[in-house]
Amino acid sequence: MGMGSPSPMPPLLLLLILGARQAAHASTITTELIIPDFSASYLLFIDTLGVFLRSRNGAFVAAVYNPGGQKDRYYLAVLHGPSRTCVWAANRAAPITDTAALVRLTSAGLSTEDANGTAVWSTPSFSSPVAALRLNDSGNLALLDGDNATLWQSFDRPTDSLVSSQSLPAGESLASAVSDSDMKEGVYRLNVTTADAVLSWMGSLYWRLSNDAISVKDRDGTVASMAVNGTGLYLLAANGAIIIQVPMPPAELRIVQLGVDGKLQISSFASANSSASPMDSGIVTPSRGCDLPLSCGALGVCTANGNASACTCPRLFAASHEHDNGCAPSDGSTTLPSGSCKGDDGGAGGSTAISYISLGSGIAYYATKFSPPAVSGSNASSCQKLCTGNCSCLGYFYDDSSRSCYLAQHQIGSFISTNSTSAAGTSGYIKVQSSQSPSSSSNKTLIAILLPTVIVFVLIVVVGAVVIVSWRKNERRAGRRPSGPSRDVNLRRQPRSPGSASAHLVRDLDNEDDVDDVVIPGLPTRFTHNEIEEMTNSYRTKIGAGGFGAVYKGELPDGSLVAVKRIEGVGTQGKREFCTEIAVIGNIHHVNLVRLRGFCTEGHRRLLVYEYMNRGSLDRPLFRPTGPLLEWKERMDIAVGAARGLAYLHFGCNQRIIHCDVKPENILLADGGQVKIADFGLAKFLTPEQSGLFTTMRGTRGYLAPEWLTNTAITDRTDVYGFGMVLLELVHGRKNRSEHVSEGTGGAEDSTINTSSGGTAASSSRSSRNDYFPLVALEGHEAGRYAELADARLEGRVVAKEVERMVKVALCCLHEDPQMRPSMAVVAGMLEGTMELREPRAQALGFLRLYGRGFAGPSDGNIIKQVIVGGAVAADRIRSEATTMSGWPSYMSSSELSEPR
Ligand SMILES: *[C@@H]1O[C@H](CO)[C@@H](O)[C@H](O)[C@H]1NC(C)=O
Ligand SMILES: *[C@@H]1O[C@H](CO)[C@@H](O)[C@H](O)[C@H]1NC(C)=O
Ligand SMILES: *[C@@H]1O[C@H](CO)[C@@H](O)[C@H](O)[C@H]1NC(C)=O
Ligand SMILES: *[C@@H]1O[C@H](CO)[C@@H](O)[C@H](O)[C@H]1NC(C)=O
Ligand SMILES: *[C@@H]1O[C@H](CO)[C@@H](O)[C@H](O)[C@H]1NC(C)=O
Ligand SMILES: *[C@@H]1O[C@H](CO)[C@@H](O)[C@H](O)[C@H]1NC(C)=O
Ligand SMILES: *[C@@H]1O[C@H](CO)[C@@H](O)[C@H](O)[C@H]1NC(C)=O
Ligand SMILES: *[C@@H]1O[C@H](CO)[C@@H](O)[C@H](O)[C@H]1NC(C)=O
Repeated sequence: MGMGSPSPMPPLLLLLILGARQAAHASTITTELIIPDFSASYLLFIDTLGVFLRSRNGAFVAAVYNPGGQKDRYYLAVLHGPSRTCVWAANRAAPITDTAALVRLTSAGLSTEDANGTAVWSTPSFSSPVAALRLNDSGNLALLDGDNATLWQSFDRPTDSLVSSQSLPAGESLASAVSDSDMKEGVYRLNVTTADAVLSWMGSLYWRLSNDAISVKDRDGTVASMAVNGTGLYLLAANGAIIIQVPMPPAELRIVQLGVDGKLQISSFASANSSASPMDSGIVTPSRGCDLPLSCGALGVCTANGNASACTCPRLFAASHEHDNGCAPSDGSTTLPSGSCKGDDGGAGGSTAISYISLGSGIAYYATKFSPPAVSGSNASSCQKLCTGNCSCLGYFYDDSSRSCYLAQHQIGSFISTNSTSAAGTSGYIKVQSSQSPSSSSNKTLIAILLPTVIVFVLIVVVGAVVIVSWRKNERRAGRRPSGPSRDVNLRRQPRSPGSASAHLVRDLDNEDDVDDVVIPGLPTRFTHNEIEEMTNSYRTKIGAGGFGAVYKGELPDGSLVAVKRIEGVGTQGKREFCTEIAVIGNIHHVNLVRLRGFCTEGHRRLLVYEYMNRGSLDRPLFRPTGPLLEWKERMDIAVGAARGLAYLHFGCNQRIIHCDVKPENILLADGGQVKIADFGLAKFLTPEQSGLFTTMRGTRGYLAPEWLTNTAITDRTDVYGFGMVLLELVHGRKNRSEHVSEGTGGAEDSTINTSSGGTAASSSRSSRNDYFPLVALEGHEAGRYAELADARLEGRVVAKEVERMVKVALCCLHEDPQMRPSMAVVAGMLEGTMELREPRAQALGFLRLYGRGFAGPSDGNIIKQVIVGGAVAADRIRSEATTMSGWPSYMSSSELSEPR
């Protein structure tokens, strides 16, 4: 909005721009034509949000575009202005990474440059010089020569969209973007073939226009192109005759876009240069969720239920964290990784044993509907042989009635649960390798760690044996010489058994300060303690006290600021173990995760050096009674950024990392809208195999999921719960549970509740029902009144739709059953608006009423009260103990706790 009308320029910005090289063009939007030489950057056009050119009718604009408001990727793009739909991007594979980097128009053509002036994208070279760049009323960006002839145009190079009056020739395709903020080519394609328009994922089709009920076939013929206009979508023959059409009510502008989710969307606009609500709401296809190749993740089963769909796993499979919401064999065997053809196994074992797991009856694969069988007229066993012999085959489907054999190659998506009668003849089998041999990659790290230990150990045993043998010889030679004190010392220092030898070794390693023999690949910079003292000015400026120890401000020799965390209470942890963990954390890079710059381990000192986030943690601006308020847009950006960071921790790393302590204090902010998660992975990263068995206890009261208080496993969904609480606090601008909660309403037995100090019983018993904001939010949701939930201090400066979205997403995150909570990836998608918003389920949130009421007073039945009391006590203990890394709650015996790794 407001894109067509540039606002007056702030004086500071004006100065900045005047100082820049291209001052002449500063920040005025040109209409239709631009003459070389011209350049634009996001910074130069910052008050028009990067827009530098608009079409004559105002419908389309050309811009240096940063999708999703992230600050890392800028594209030369054409947008439909009123709806801010990006319909074309020049440099989708090579984004500009700097706000000051230029898009340049010269007589040689268009180019985009890196910050240091290297071209990262450019138009090809032309025989005649470029005279102008034109954006016409249809959204076509063209380079013209002196005779106004087109040298090059964006309509010829579509990315993921097609607009009215543009056409896509047969043989060409649209490619979806990776995400709403990254325009790199994603995994879905729309291809126009000579017969049809098809959608595919990893080479397998999941939709054909001709099969869809929305399409009407007009005549036979060879398709030459696909086009969209005011009356619909068309597949046209070379002579313009209509072969297949999707008739739609009249509209001035239509945009066809292949979404990041694999759905094809046709949006309609009654008038091209306004976002006025269209006459029809457009078309989204495939319309049913189960028709998407990844509707339920890899190997998940999608069951349609009216318009909605549900995900389960096949009979012999169980939910897996490998892929979002996907499934894996429950017998411990593993499916073959895609691209396992390369034969990159470490040689251990040589040929792995291949076997197949049946999917059971009533399960179909979407791709068999659209692709011809690999072989017809075969029998089931030859179908299996075919798959076994083909290393890119991940599974096969055999149809008894037609004797057809289908192979799933390269990648395997979701299955569709069908009415058993219609799929009676089809049986599916997934190729697996037995679980005997652990995956080669974890083997390698294991070897990297174990090998040096084993070698040193063997050496010591050998040396020890030699020493003992020679000592005995000496003794024999010396005859009955009385034993002196010197020999006693020798004896004590010499290993008597292999066990004590290795114990010596480990202790020696840990005591020596220069443990540079701990060679672990990927370690970040190692600092000496002197260097740390220098950078922190002898720990002069303390900027916080996190869950693991105090944090100090520091400065590296290169001038960059850092936060140095002095970890306390890790006496039991070995150096090698510590370094192994550091190597993992140090290799995690994501814009929404605080970056580890280095570490120090000397003696018993353990220090971590992180990048510095100058605005501190989210709790300060969010909860402080005075000072500038976090505006709604900022809160939305924080929510999305934090969600992306957590999603990356859960799904983006080789090792799944569960944060375990998601709360505003661990979300850090910095200028430029940076949002980063802190304190991840310090003790708790898990291999995929372990993720279900995580039983150590940590966390902060108020963000603790119900499963902490039961024996249920702690999984990534535990973080989702904590994040849901943070979302509600972002909406409300206050702690979910006010600091002074009830102590009950008197009575001897109630003294055990005693959740925290400082509350007055009288006031809390009156107001405590409203004290528990999650319950208030649930009631607001049930009444459909979302606006009232927003922070009153914002005085209505909120986007009502977004408040509703955030509350709904938050409530979904709080579902009592961890399996019913969305994954962090889905949470991020829903917050961004790129994924369909799920509806919270009231029955899965009933426990909030118990929590809310429990704190109101002990009037409920005994059982409920016990749960609440137990929970409160447990939570309280955790809170008091959670300040040290190894501070396990004292009421649990150490044998109940397994070390995290
Ligand atoms: C919208 O387009 C119409 C004709 O296409 C034109 O008359 C009108 O001025 C345009 N409005 C704006 C704001 O550019
Ligand atoms: C410019 O910077 C990029 C990375 O930002 C680098 O890859 C490239 O080599 C640099 N080019 C020159 C000429 O310095
Ligand atoms: C814009 O350019 C394209 C490609 O040359 C053309 O098909 C379209 O008709 C033009 N639109 C207008 C409004 O001139
Ligand atoms: C090119 O087009 C512009 C505007 O459309 C017009 O002013 C100019 O005269 C044209 N030039 C030629 C050589 O046709
Ligand atoms: C779609 O087109 C691309 C090239 O434009 C091609 O690489 C791909 O194989 C095609 N996919 C299908 C399913 O035809
Ligand atoms: C859209 O294109 C079809 C096929 O070329 C044509 O029959 C129809 O008249 C066009 N509609 C409009 C509004 O131009
Ligand atoms: C399914 O969706 C259609 C169109 O959106 C709607 O009219 C219909 O009521 C929905 N059916 C159910 C069961 O929700
Ligand atoms: C098959 O479909 C029919 C009607 O659609 C339904 O009544 C029946 O329950 C379905 N059977 C199974 C096993 O899902």
